Amino acid sequence: MSMRGTVISLINMKGGVGKTTLCREIGLFLSEKFCRLNDDGTSDELKVLLIDIDPQSNLTQSLLENLGKESVVYKYDENGEIKKDSKGKPIVEYKCSIDNLFKGDMSGLQEKHIILELSDNLHLIPGELETVFLQRQQNSQTPFVLRNYIIEKKLKEKYDFILLDCPPTYSVYTEMSFYASDYYLVPAVPDAYSSLGVDLLERVVKDIVHGQRFGIFEHARPKNIGVIWSRVDLKYKPRQQVHMDALLISETITQNGIKTLDSSFEESNKLSTSPFEKTIIDRNDSKLNEILTNICKELISETEVDVNEVIVEKE
Ligand SMILES: Nc1ncnc2c1ncn2[C@@H]1O[C@H](COP(=O)(O)OP(=O)(O)O)[C@@H](O)[C@H]1O
Ligand SMILES: [Mg+2]
Repeated sequence: MSMRGTVISLINMKGGVGKTTLCREIGLFLSEKFCRLNDDGTSDELKVLLIDIDPQSNLTQSLLENLGKESVVYKYDENGEIKKDSKGKPIVEYKCSIDNLFKGDMSGLQEKHIILELSDNLHLIPGELETVFLQRQQNSQTPFVLRNYIIEKKLKEKYDFILLDCPPTYSVYTEMSFYASDYYLVPAVPDAYSSLGVDLLERVVKDIVHGQRFGIFEHARPKNIGVIWSRVDLKYKPRQQVHMDALLISETITQNGIKTLDSSFEESNKLSTSPFEKTIIDRNDSKLNEILTNICKELISETEVDVNEVIVEKE
């Protein structure tokens, strides 16, 4: 079992750029199609945790819809059996949700109240739909709650990758994800506003790093993996090339040494017309499969800290 999980935020100060779609699909691909090779010739499947930090909870909705999972956790009796009411219906005690991390009293709270096991290798900390969960009880510790949970529960030992789906606005959620992240990846659609979103994001990062508390970023601040172009369709939208070139020479990109990934998330009308309907793996579409595999490979090579770690596509 690996001792080195990598935490990556998918973030941009813009909505509709593919953060949620990429988070879900990269998570699924890594957990199903990649493995870690050991020195002795054996291999381990990758364990992936997705965390839905966006109050719009699109990631949670699409995953639950696709995988048909209940997001409730039942009340258990002394024997570990699910308690039922007089009519035999399970008694729902907690909803499995990120919300539970912010309810003052953490005693009695178990991992199953926070982490939902979608499959053996893909787990999810579900978002909380339409609640402004943090506004209810914010305090100076709020930005650290997720970081502390990851440390306390040794989640980096349990998962190879932890991916955070972030909201497109600057708020305590953004702080929370940066405090917990080793890296961030910036999905962007090539249009006249792409460089604005990236520029705004870099200013937010600087603001958070500058305002850091307890010297948290003293030794390492989250590293920008780069911009990943999404919804690329040069055949029907040749202007996209102009916007991509413009970003490359923009001040934000050149001054901060931000790279753009070689692989991009090309436009697929299958995804735009029925976004939640199916995951890419379920679609059996060779082109989409290749696109996601390439994105995962590049992500792995950009985040492999230890050269002895070898993560490869399964045979
Ligand atoms: N590569 C793609 N091809 C076609 N449509 C896409 C692609 N990536 C995302 N979309 C669609 O674009 C919309 C916004 O994507 P989403 O992942 O929700 O963005 P964000 O989380 O940044 O707001 C969704 O309807 C999604 O299905
Ligand atoms: Mg989203």
